[in-house]
Amino acid sequence: MRDLQDIETVGVVGAGTMGAGIAQVAATAGYDVVMRDIEAEFVEQGFDRIEDSLDRLAEKGEVDADERDDVLDRITGTTDLGDFSDSDLVVEAAVENMDIKRDIFSELDDEVPDDVPLATNTSTLSITTIAAATDREERIVGLHFMNPVPVMKGVEVVVGEKTSEAVVDLAHDFAEALGKETWESDDKPGFVTNRILMPWINEGIRAFDEGVATKEDIDKGMKLGTNVPMGPLELADHIGLDICLDASETLHEELGDRYKPAYLLKRKVDAGDLGKKTGKGFYEYDDES
Ligand code: 3HC
Repeated sequence: MRDLQDIETVGVVGAGTMGAGIAQVAATAGYDVVMRDIEAEFVEQGFDRIEDSLDRLAEKGEVDADERDDVLDRITGTTDLGDFSDSDLVVEAAVENMDIKRDIFSELDDEVPDDVPLATNTSTLSITTIAAATDREERIVGLHFMNPVPVMKGVEVVVGEKTSEAVVDLAHDFAEALGKETWESDDKPGFVTNRILMPWINEGIRAFDEGVATKEDIDKGMKLGTNVPMGPLELADHIGLDICLDASETLHEELGDRYKPAYLLKRKVDAGDLGKKTGKGFYEYDDES
């Protein structure tokens, strides 16, 4: 089994918001990173996200031009999971779909040396069910990063039914090596964060849909009233309404009616208004990044 000091190369599955963020923080911490998505175009978009984020950090003087280039140089893009054969740790951040995640883990199990731990960034799906698609269930763990990854300080470590203590320790150590703080959750739907966050978001959407207040006042009330950085509707737009709906549906399925997704959340997703990333969710955005 690999320890933190054995990790030199990190494989990241997915170059979307979360995958690119994870690749960026790993490369910033000095790891070589292989970032994979299914299409070359998605890999390129992942690099664009990383460059934008590094530029924001450069504007604040948190990285200089040389460091920015070094971080980008440490990341290699690919569309082939076979390129993970030299990875010492893999973090999967693909779409929130159990069948797709199980297929990816089954393929990783074939491509990546047996002693390499495989982590998933799933927001609500069962680590144990994902792990069962492999022959290394004790080396599968949840590493749940928060969006935006370069800014958010916390990472949730999720312990599957068969995850070994050594792999749990490694997950904490690795997240800390990326400059994050961790907490631990059992493999229960939504873990700690989304189990509590999603009902809050859904209640905000219902309050808006039922005319309790304007969306601006719901967000303002929760921000000023409870001292959180974003209200439920703007946070939903930030996370992505499709992701909120997927997470809410998993919680509803597993935990019953108190987790039922808000009707308006489903309607917005059906209309393709997914939040900041499509330029429109509950609010409208000029910049679609
Ligand atoms: N890369 C680098 N820097 C970034 C960045 C990125 N992708 N996004 C934001 N920043 C930096 C900005 O440059 C800025 O820096 P400064 O304060 O030093 O100037 C700082 O972060 C704040 O950004 P902005 O001024 O643009 O905007 P805000 O002040 O509104 O902050 C926010 C944005 C950091 C997103 C803040 O609103 C926030 O913390 N919101 C809550 C986010 C949250 O709860 N995330 C978790 C969601 S749950 C989740 O991810 C789990 C999943 O499973 C659903």
